[in-house]
Amino acid sequence: MRMSSIRVRAARPADAGPLARVHVDTWRTAYSGIVAPDYLAGLSYEARESQWDDIFLANQPATSTFVAETADGEIVGFASGGPERQGDPTYLGEVYAVYVLQDHQRSGVGRRLAVAVVEQLRRDGFTSMLLWVLEDNRPARRFYESLGGEQVRQRTLTIEGTDLPELSYGWKDISSIT
Ligand SMILES: CC(C)(COP(=O)(O)OP(=O)(O)OC[C@H]1O[C@@H](n2cnc3c(N)ncnc32)[C@H](O)[C@@H]1OP(=O)(O)O)[C@@H](O)C(=O)NCCC(=O)NCCS
Repeated sequence: MRMSSIRVRAARPADAGPLARVHVDTWRTAYSGIVAPDYLAGLSYEARESQWDDIFLANQPATSTFVAETADGEIVGFASGGPERQGDPTYLGEVYAVYVLQDHQRSGVGRRLAVAVVEQLRRDGFTSMLLWVLEDNRPARRFYESLGGEQVRQRTLTIEGTDLPELSYGWKDISSIT
């Protein structure tokens, strides 16, 4: 799939189903070997879709989601962001998620989605941001490093009783991400 045939646009409520599919399918491929297999097997399109419905219904003005869509209208990735969620004193914006279906990875879609979120953060007045990534998710870490992120924080995520270390990457000046 050539990158130019993929369009990045703002997500809309009708995207809830495809967003759920990308979310669950990408979790299963990217986190296999990192997150407990039972947890990945138990992820559900329906549950995830209803979470997306809630996000669109709540119409949270500060949260923005962008999708990557093929010329055929298939959604193959998404990214979302908004205000930082834990009161970090330095990094005020946050990228909450960037997910690209495995078959479409490494062709520039993730970068375009991340840039779309960053541009929205800038329009909303943010100049800095961070994001969280599982320490063992090496490909994603390389991706964020390629965007100029620096490792700044650590925390532990617990999934099904297993502790998973997370790192955050921070950008003091998001205007460097283009
Ligand atoms: C991480 C992810 C969002 C990156 O999106 P992508 O579309 O595959 O990445 P891009 O093609 O835009 O890559 C941009 C640059 O990032 C770096 N990069 C991306 N994937 C990489 C990988 N697997 N290994 C090393 N570097 C990588 C490269 O520098 C790449 O530039 P290049 O291809 O010219 O060398 C995507 O692979 C993905 O969805 N992964 C699974 C889910 C996930 O881990 N999401 C992040 C959760 S925190």
